[in-house]
Amino acid sequence: MKSPWSTRYSMNMQDYTGYAIGKLLALIEDPEIISLAGGLPSPRMFLQSELVEETQRCFSDRLERVMQYSTIRGEKDLIEAVIAFLRRDGIRVAPENVMITTSAQQGLDLAGRLFLDPGDAVVLERPTFGGAIAAFQMQRPEFLGVELTDDGLDIDRLETLLKRRDGAQSLPKFIYVVPDFQNPSGVTMGLDRRRALLDLAERFDVPVVEDSPYRTLRYRGADIPSLFALDQQRSGEHVIGIYTFSKLFCPGMRVGFTIGPPEVIERMTRIKEGGTLCTPKYNQDMCTAFLTRMDLDGYFARCREYYGAKMETLLEALTEQFPPHRGISWTRPEGGMFLWVSLPRTVDTRQFFHEALAFRVAFVPGEAFYAERHEHHHMRVNFSFPSRKQLGEAIRRLSDCLSARPSGEA
Ligand SMILES: Cc1ncc(COP(=O)(O)O)c(C=O)c1O
Repeated sequence: MKSPWSTRYSMNMQDYTGYAIGKLLALIEDPEIISLAGGLPSPRMFLQSELVEETQRCFSDRLERVMQYSTIRGEKDLIEAVIAFLRRDGIRVAPENVMITTSAQQGLDLAGRLFLDPGDAVVLERPTFGGAIAAFQMQRPEFLGVELTDDGLDIDRLETLLKRRDGAQSLPKFIYVVPDFQNPSGVTMGLDRRRALLDLAERFDVPVVEDSPYRTLRYRGADIPSLFALDQQRSGEHVIGIYTFSKLFCPGMRVGFTIGPPEVIERMTRIKEGGTLCTPKYNQDMCTAFLTRMDLDGYFARCREYYGAKMETLLEALTEQFPPHRGISWTRPEGGMFLWVSLPRTVDTRQFFHEALAFRVAFVPGEAFYAERHEHHHMRVNFSFPSRKQLGEAIRRLSDCLSARPSGEA
């Protein structure tokens, strides 16, 4: 090659540096480091013997078929199982409303590709899931961040934004939200907020993309209907739902599903054809077996107890190590896998991340969860993967690390 490869990259890729969290995780190699950085389910919750049994059954019954291509839209049996699963959650959909994706990340990519042209606006929560930023970024949209409060997306600010854009500038193509135990903050959108969001979606005719990987993992409080279910009780068709088996069953399967109006699902299926073509049949069959042949209620109850206890341990450790005078605050989630810690504004968590590694503890600096107007004094803390003992120890190390800062902050 005469000229460097970089001269050939597409405009999109010229300055693309990749998914920030992936690069951080690569720095955490030392096994002595307690990592609160990942978003991994605990292997202790994996249904391992059930998976082995179903794999044996699958290989002896239909090895030729699992070695073959699957359909683009997804296996019929899995789509049927998903429909029954969603009915448990108050959602009624038909096969034409459902497509199987190669996990939620593909659902996000498909939503971005389907709706966004360069310069189109998209609303995101501030902070939001970094993987969604990475997926949508590919279309070079304009990101419009709306603050998150303890009760979810700040609806008043969203209304002001939509009013301002209406007429003068184009309205956003969609509003992306993670209403249940959000990644990264752990915050849940309250019922009134959900209704108000749907009111705005209807009034301004802007669809909502609801991404909900953690819905089954509620440890406190009462269930709140999903935006998709609430929308169905009204006029319907304002919400596209993105789901995954990653936190439900296991992330290694890379299987998820997206639900929405048939026309949208049909279009997304066409885009999927040019991307991954199909989701592996074996992986889909294992997810079908999970939904139809495993003890879902027993499993969800075990997960809730196990992860819920970890969350309580983490909250107790934070309360113990960070009394109010230290100026540190954190969210108190009702489920999921994360909480969000805000340090005094003078602490830049990008720098603090490296200091904490020396104390053998890691987290994700909050910067990774902003698409615009980045804030630097927050961090995301995961509690699903470390043991309870490690969680207590990790918070002690963070506290020591903060005390050791030259400025003596916090
Ligand atoms: C909010 C949210 N959406 C999507 C994903 C991606 O999930 P998947 O592993 O199914 O691609 C995650 C993973 O952490 C997530 O937290």
